[in-house]
Amino acid sequence: MARQLFVTTALPYANGAFHIGHIMEYIQADTWVRAQRMRGAEVNFVCADDAHGAPIMIAAEKAGKTPQQFVADIAAGRPAYLNGFHIAFDNWHSTDGPENHALAQSIYRALRKNELIDVRTVEQFFDPDKKMFLPDRFIKGECPKCGTKDQYGDNCESCGAVYSPTELKHPYSALSGATPVLRTSEHYFFKLSDPRCVEFLEQWTQDGKLQPEVANKVKEWFTRDEDGKTGLGDWDISRDAPYFGIEIPDAPGKYFYVWLDAPVGYLASLQNLLDKRGEDMAAYLADPAVEQYHFIGKDIVTFHTLFWPAMLHFSGRKVPNNVFVHGFITVSGEKMSKSRGTGISPLRYLEVGLNPEWLRYYIAAKLNARVEDIDFNPEDFVARVNADLVGKYINIASRAAGFITKRFDGHLSGDLGVEGRVLLDGLRAQRAAIELLYEEREFGRCVREIMLLADRVNEFVDQHKPWDLARQVGQEAALHDTCSVCIEAFRLLTIYLKPILPALAAQVESFLRVAPLQFADAQRALGHHAIGEYKHLMQRVDAAKVDLLFEAPAEAPPPAPGGEALAAEIKIDDFAKVDLRIALIVNAEHVEGSDKLLRLTLDVGEGRPRNVFSGIKSAYKPEDLIGKHTVMVANLAPRKMKFGLSEGMVLAASHADEKAHPGIFVLEPWPGSKPGMRVR
Ligand code: MSP
Ligand code: ZN
Repeated sequence: MARQLFVTTALPYANGAFHIGHIMEYIQADTWVRAQRMRGAEVNFVCADDAHGAPIMIAAEKAGKTPQQFVADIAAGRPAYLNGFHIAFDNWHSTDGPENHALAQSIYRALRKNELIDVRTVEQFFDPDKKMFLPDRFIKGECPKCGTKDQYGDNCESCGAVYSPTELKHPYSALSGATPVLRTSEHYFFKLSDPRCVEFLEQWTQDGKLQPEVANKVKEWFTRDEDGKTGLGDWDISRDAPYFGIEIPDAPGKYFYVWLDAPVGYLASLQNLLDKRGEDMAAYLADPAVEQYHFIGKDIVTFHTLFWPAMLHFSGRKVPNNVFVHGFITVSGEKMSKSRGTGISPLRYLEVGLNPEWLRYYIAAKLNARVEDIDFNPEDFVARVNADLVGKYINIASRAAGFITKRFDGHLSGDLGVEGRVLLDGLRAQRAAIELLYEEREFGRCVREIMLLADRVNEFVDQHKPWDLARQVGQEAALHDTCSVCIEAFRLLTIYLKPILPALAAQVESFLRVAPLQFADAQRALGHHAIGEYKHLMQRVDAAKVDLLFEAPAEAPPPAPGGEALAAEIKIDDFAKVDLRIALIVNAEHVEGSDKLLRLTLDVGEGRPRNVFSGIKSAYKPEDLIGKHTVMVANLAPRKMKFGLSEGMVLAASHADEKAHPGIFVLEPWPGSKPGMRVR
């Protein structure tokens, strides 16, 4: 019986395009799935967009779309990446699909029936303007420890302190700016602290299946204090309307917290796939032979090793056989932040014409079964692809194929000679070891083993020198055997690399005129087989193209507008830090003892005037300014000057070389704006 596998990757949040971290996870899982299929397994490999939650709801509102339209637009962008990198999911679905609504509610009902759901009153910050409870991420204020302003509700980026949002000083809503108020609300909890859950999870996480570092980390949850209590607290699984999510049965206005329905999306995507095929999911999952595996990153281990298995087990469902955790990918040693999404763009990688299989190869070569971070280093990338993939592997075919076509009418020699057979048997003998390395997700070791085999083949070529044999009389048979050994060796190496390089393998299959290669084909020999004409299979990487990944795309900024080079690029978040406001110039006057400055009195709608010194005396008479509106930086730290305190800055344009191009031009908004309005 074929092995039955149900495999998933983490469901990406539907609030942005894929970054290289997502692609890395998909390459890892896709390679594993392809290797399993080549070993004869039947696999259902699915993913979906993680559509729910407050951040997506808020992003949709900002974009002027319904959340449904917003996530549909994100979903429309997915195939370009997945097809581009040859990631062959059998299905891509959404956690907002009807299957997920039904499954999440049915799991919840089963947990409730099992007396594992509790209702409790909690106190939470509420935005009186937006009329909604605020997630921690959307509450800001001063750090209670160090006093740094504008820190998030859960931790301080300046001093690293961790706290709860209610501890912030001068809290405000990041959505409306309003001061949040504490309100009580009924929340639903999954009683993970129930002894049945503790016992089950301790067993499930500590029975040896998890990666050792994962099991160790999770183990902390089960250490008991003097009273025998563990760290496993009950899990708050509800959120109040308005929320983009799934309604909790019999609880009007309550929705499942996004992390409750997100992993259920694995089942929903499977259900959606099997429905399309007319198969029965319940029967499929009831089959004890079906193995269930989830590929995830190290940041979401708790959800997958505690909450998810418990949800499944206590709703009477199949639990995962394992969770495979990977580390993070960095680019040139730099971490990517989820919010800033730095790193290299996978789409740009494809657009500049870099081969997706180079990235698959490079990432595979760096991956192992541990939770280790890996780095994309451009020089290393170019070196590995050119020296190993092209230099060692592709080279074997390009050295031998021409002779077979020109001299032997495309036919391989049925014999091969003793040395050739020894070499090929040696290559075949590694098949089981290589399959095992794939199974264990030791892709880096796998690639190293395969490259060692390629070295052996290249040594064979160097010893038998087909280019010399071709020039000698009476060496036809030796030339035929040598080149045939090379082609057979190339076929074996292609089998071994196929999970990593599926498109290249397909090209090789057509060149060799063979059916899609499986691992079992390593045990066969081509014999007196006719191959097709060799066309170059893979180019070397052009390092200049890799450089393009690190440059700003296409339209380069025009050279030095206004005589001044553009400042370094910033993100919208950086811009948002500058609080620009409309100001009414209530008064303007000369400053005694200064030939540059005017003293401005500004109304910024605060109920008290601001005093600002501005270096515009050379361009404006005070009486021409009074009564006009302008734009000021309102959150600039006040500056003590010789003449008094300056509480902000008025915006004005000037050329970089003011002597050659004199003139200062104060900004004036179009009619209609009012003092205090924000400029953004
Ligand atoms: N929506 C949740 C997962 C729900 S699963 C039921 C989520 N989404 S995510 O888009 O933030 O992350 C998706 C996957 O990408 C996660 O497995 C995460 O660990 C992985 N990665 C995010 N950044 C990464 C790197 N820099 N490197 C490798 N994987 C990374 O979390
Ligand atoms: Zn702090």
